[in-house]
Amino acid sequence: MTPSVCIAIDGPAGAGKSTAAKMLASKLGYVYVDTGAMYRAVTYQALMDKINMDDTGALTQIAETIDLALKVDAGGRTRILIAGTDVTQQIRCPEVSNNVSLVSRIPGVRNVLTRLQRELAAQGSVVMEGRDIGTKVLPAADKKFFLTASVEERARRRFLELQQIGYQVKYDEVIQDIILRDEIDSNRALAPLKPAPDAVIVDCSGLTAEQVVDTLLSIVSGG
Ligand code: DC
Repeated sequence: MTPSVCIAIDGPAGAGKSTAAKMLASKLGYVYVDTGAMYRAVTYQALMDKINMDDTGALTQIAETIDLALKVDAGGRTRILIAGTDVTQQIRCPEVSNNVSLVSRIPGVRNVLTRLQRELAAQGSVVMEGRDIGTKVLPAADKKFFLTASVEERARRRFLELQQIGYQVKYDEVIQDIILRDEIDSNRALAPLKPAPDAVIVDCSGLTAEQVVDTLLSIVSGG
């Protein structure tokens, strides 16, 4: 049996991680795992259940009991299901984006999702994308990348992404949201956003998705 390979891709919101991670996984024939979508799904369920974002016990309980599945559809896109219902689009709404950092700083939530993520990685070769994959979830990953880009470029990408899926948002609000999320994600006590000491840092400012993937691929195949 071929041993499974784990590639960790971390970095701040809007650096282009998702596109690069998906393309890299498809080129290598590995499974793509979007861990941010898992935190978003828990946040979405909490909003549906009208849970207070300060209620760490109730939020942890949602993470422990949520029936979450990541499935790849016929077009190679990852779908996120809660109890069999496809919520892939709903988890990208601004209300989830505005609350997800509050949910993802809760240790109980992180412990549950970290365990799930390790189980997914144990099933086969993966490209796993998130904030703490190289530092916490898969510290022994075969390759670790930390993708970054300027705040303006990241806000511009998020703005276009949201527009493409039909959300009317203001650029100024997107940039403020990114700055705030960076702040919370980087300063939380548990598994803060930071590059692993052995991660390769790639600044994606001004690079196309193809250029980013070529860079990652050449590093992966270079050993
Ligand atoms: O990548 P994203 O924007 O969909 O992630 C949503 C949020 O989840 C983000 O604010 C940080 C958090 N997150 C995390 O804390 N740890 C991860 N491994 C992935 C995401």
